[in-house]
Amino acid sequence: MRVALYQPDIPQNVGAFIRLSGCLDLALDVIEPCGFPVDDRRIRRAAMDYYDLARLVRHASWQAFRRDRPAGRLVLLTTAGDTIFPNLVFRPDDILLLGRESAGVPADVHDAAEVRLRIPLKPGARSLNVALAASMVVSEALRQTRGFHAQADQHAHSPAR
Ligand SMILES: C[S@@+](CC[C@H](N)C(=O)[O-])C[C@H]1O[C@@H](n2cnc3c(N)ncnc32)[C@H](O)[C@@H]1O
Repeated sequence: MRVALYQPDIPQNVGAFIRLSGCLDLALDVIEPCGFPVDDRRIRRAAMDYYDLARLVRHASWQAFRRDRPAGRLVLLTTAGDTIFPNLVFRPDDILLLGRESAGVPADVHDAAEVRLRIPLKPGARSLNVALAASMVVSEALRQTRGFHAQADQHAHSPAR
């Protein structure tokens, strides 16, 4: 399981994702350009010492990301998604792609995704904070694919039947 950020524009959110990556052992792709330098100290401050635990991979552009990304389904989280979050069966090699805070993703990125996933909101609500949307989906994706560390441990230590 990987998480990818498309041209993020709020450094503190990137810091929160770096911390998520470090804590849950998820690879994190940052697709540049961003609205700030990726070594911005606001990122470091939000990521704290989890920065060094994270598996951060930077990509110079969307094209570079498409060329270099590992195999796996591209699952775009979008408020314009046609797949409803509770209905998706996740795969261990899914790449969960998040749009930018200000504008989501452009049409070509939207079209390139294999799955366009929407967290249903009540009528009148526009969107969730990007890190909160990601953490909801990451949690369910890891639960389904037994990707949490404790689940892997339980599996390893469960008695043979
Ligand atoms: C603040 S939202 C972007 C809002 C932007 N105006 C738009 O319509 O895409 C930032 C990102 O969070 C994710 N997100 C927020 N709410 C979501 C929802 N209800 N379903 C799926 N993804 C969501 C998406 O990846 C989105 O690009």
